[in-house]
Amino acid sequence: MTQLDDYITANKSRFVDELKAWLRIPSISTLKEHAGDVQRAAVFATRQLQHIGFPLVELIETARHPLVYAEWLHAPEKPTLLLYGHYDVQPTDPIAQWQTPPFEPDERNGNLYARGAADDKGQVMVMFKALEALKEVEGSLPINIKVLIEGEEEEGGLSIENYVKEHPERLGCDAVFICDTHMPAEDTPSLIYGLRGIIYTEVEVQGAKRDLHSGTYGGVAPNPLHALAIIISRLKDADGHIHIPGLYDALRKPTHAEKEFWQRDPLHMNEAFLEEMGVTQLSGELEYPPIERASARPTLEVHGFSGGFVGEGAKTVIPATAKAKISLRLPPDLNSKNVFTLFEQAVHDAAPAGVSVTVHNIHGGEGLVVSPDTEPMKAAAEALEEVYGKPPVYLREGGSIPIAALFNEVLQVPIVLMGFGLPNDNLHAPNEKYSLNQFERGIRTVTRFLHHMA
Ligand code: BES
Ligand code: MN
Ligand code: MN
Repeated sequence: MTQLDDYITANKSRFVDELKAWLRIPSISTLKEHAGDVQRAAVFATRQLQHIGFPLVELIETARHPLVYAEWLHAPEKPTLLLYGHYDVQPTDPIAQWQTPPFEPDERNGNLYARGAADDKGQVMVMFKALEALKEVEGSLPINIKVLIEGEEEEGGLSIENYVKEHPERLGCDAVFICDTHMPAEDTPSLIYGLRGIIYTEVEVQGAKRDLHSGTYGGVAPNPLHALAIIISRLKDADGHIHIPGLYDALRKPTHAEKEFWQRDPLHMNEAFLEEMGVTQLSGELEYPPIERASARPTLEVHGFSGGFVGEGAKTVIPATAKAKISLRLPPDLNSKNVFTLFEQAVHDAAPAGVSVTVHNIHGGEGLVVSPDTEPMKAAAEALEEVYGKPPVYLREGGSIPIAALFNEVLQVPIVLMGFGLPNDNLHAPNEKYSLNQFERGIRTVTRFLHHMA
C-alpha cells in the first residue's frame, strides 16, 4: 500500500482544490432557481469519472435532476461494487450565521467549510480520489466498479428510485457501498448497519375565507395557527410519546445485543449529545437510552410553522391559513406509506372544530437494518482497522438515505454504509465542514476496502 499512500500524500492538496471547485457550485436540489447549478455539479462529476479513466460515463437526464452513471468492468472473476453518493446539497439559510459564505470553501484549522463539504460532495470525492489513486498507481482497479451518483437525495430521491426500479439488471452487483454517513469521533471508526426511513409532510389548516379582525371576530372565529398548535401538541406529548394509533405496532424489536449496547453506552453518547447540542438535558422518551432514541425509535418533529403576522410591531389579525412542516423518522419495519395514512388520520382526529385540514405527502423513504457479518462489511472493517488502528464500532444511524433500502430490496446484495463525516460537521446547518484529516483517511481506507473486496 505504500505506493498508494505516497500517491495520496503527494496529491492531497490537488484533491482538496478539486473538491473546492465542486463545492463552489451551489447545487441546492430543492430550490428551482438552482436547477442549472445542480446540472453543472452533475457535469463536474462526469468529468471526474472520465479523468479517472472510466470507459463509460453517462449523464442521465430525469424528470428532475440528472443522475451520473459510470462503469469499469475489466476485472473478470472479481466482484462488482456499486458506489453511491449525492452531489446535491441542502439550502443555506440562515445565511447570516455562516462565518464564511457557504459556496466559497474556506480552509480553517484543518477543516474545509462549505455547504456540501461533508454532505455529500466531500465523501463522494473520497471515493473518486481512491479510484484515481488505484488507477494511477496500479494501472487498473482491483474489482469491477459501477458508480451511481444522484442530485435529488436531499429532496427525497424520486428519480433515482425510478431508475433503480427500471434498470435492476444494469445495476447488478455483488455489493453496494454508500459513502454518506459519519463516525462518532476521529478516533472511533464505525460502520453503519441501519438507517431510519422518513415521511416528510406539510399540514395546511384553513379557517375563515379571509384574514379577520381579532376584535370583531375573536371569540367566534376559528384560528388556524392555534388549531395547528393543538394538533401538534396532541400528536406528540412532552415525554416524547407519539400519539398516532397503530404507529408502534409494526416496529421491529431490537436484539438483546443492541439493547445491551445502548444501555451500556460505551461511546458515552449521552454526554456527547449534551456537548454537541449545547443543552443541559436531553428530551424524548426517558425510558429508552439516548442512543436508541436517536437511531432506532420513531420520531415526530416540526420543522417549520407559518401563518399570520410575524413582522415588526403588532397587528391584530386572525389569519385565514396556517401551515406546518412535520416529519416522522421510521425505523424498520414502519412502512412510509402505511405511516402516512395513520398520520393523516391522526391529524384529522386531532383537529379542533371549525377548521379544515389538508395533509400533503412531500416525500418518503424506508429504513433498513443490514447484517454486519457480510463479506463486504468485513472488507470495510479490515480497511478501517488498518487506517485507524482499531476495529470499527457498529452503529445504527438516525438519519435517512432513502435509496439504501431500495438498493437492498431490488438488488438483493449486502450494503456497506461507511462514511468519514464527524458529528460536529454541521450537516444541513450553517458552517458545514469536512475534516481534511478525515478526507485523507477516507481515501486511504477506500483504496484498502477495494483491495479487500478483491
Ligand atoms: N447524509 C444524510 C444522512 C445522514 C445524516 C447520515 C446524518 C448520517 C448522519 C443525507 O444526506 C440526508 O440528509 N438525508 C435526509 C433524507 C431526506 C431528505 C429524505 C435526512 O436524513 O434528512
Ligand atoms: Mn447525505
Ligand atoms: Mn443531507
